[in-house]
Amino acid sequence: MEIPAALMKPRIFSGMQPTGELHIGNYLGALRNWARIQYDYEPIFCIVDQHAITVRQDPKTLRESCEKVAALYLAAGLDPAHSAVFVQSQISAHVELAWIFTCTVPFGWLGRMTQFKAKTLQAGGNQDSIGTGLFLYPVLMAADILLYQAKLVPVGDDQSQHMELTRNIAARFNKLYGRTFEIPATKLPMVGARIMGLDDPTRKMSKSANAPNHSISLLDPPGRVRKKIGRAKTDSQPGVNWENPGAGVSNLLTIFQAFSDWSDERMSLHFPDMRYGALKKEVTEMVNAKLEPIQRRFAELMDNRDYLRGVLRGSAARVAPIAEETVRQAKKRTGLYSL
Ligand code: TRP
Repeated sequence: MEIPAALMKPRIFSGMQPTGELHIGNYLGALRNWARIQYDYEPIFCIVDQHAITVRQDPKTLRESCEKVAALYLAAGLDPAHSAVFVQSQISAHVELAWIFTCTVPFGWLGRMTQFKAKTLQAGGNQDSIGTGLFLYPVLMAADILLYQAKLVPVGDDQSQHMELTRNIAARFNKLYGRTFEIPATKLPMVGARIMGLDDPTRKMSKSANAPNHSISLLDPPGRVRKKIGRAKTDSQPGVNWENPGAGVSNLLTIFQAFSDWSDERMSLHFPDMRYGALKKEVTEMVNAKLEPIQRRFAELMDNRDYLRGVLRGSAARVAPIAEETVRQAKKRTGLYSL
């Protein structure tokens, strides 16, 4: 029986790349919120391995990372009975639609993407060392989202230019070929915490930063968490200046509050003037206490690959018909041949 549209929950789509280790910034900024809001939506969460190969990956590591990220999604609280959790390359419709979009998107739109420009710069501007996939990256992302006619896309503000492009692609296709795609919005009513690098609290915590004390992996053992927080940048004041904490101290407080869910008031009674040694000890204990059950669940899932693969297979089977229907429409509209 068809469910009347008015009763259907809005569909959301989001994803992460299976590269590097997911860190507490990914968790507090995205993953945990996905888990918290999942029942208010019809959620689809993807592991975008085709985006990952826009830069060189070791094949064995990449394959293993897909399952690791899937296990972390579940360990962080995504309920596979409700949320679809699958790997992008399991469903070939992603690249099919991406190709159709590639042929609809002006070159200039992609050349203006700041992430592409930044990555080109990192490569020293040498065009022969930059994969074409990096240039087309946002087109594939648009295909991910528009394939499922997602209404909302919970991502960080670093993705807002990609989201803008996704809307522009949808609008352009709709205008050229007739209304085919839902125009998605970026924001959910709730936003996650923005966690900064421990070594450089002016930069958002990032998976691709190479510095050893930059981020805390969700899989870091307690001793390593203690070491990293111990080395986290603070400032030359003796203790927490509550009215005016520096960026590093402020980041540690944000991490503590996000993990503990303490109220602003409770925070403001507890932390003022606390010495940095004591602050770091409290943050360490809180982080370790919250990571422990995630790591335990992660280990169980990794030991039970049949179950994990069953989730990926089952989710893909569940959402593939949505993607295939969209591709069918897009092919028909553009005149691509089918019998
Ligand atoms: N570009 C996203 C990131 O780096 C990952 C991504 C790929 C994505 N496709 C997506 C996020 C679709 C949301 C929706 O974080």
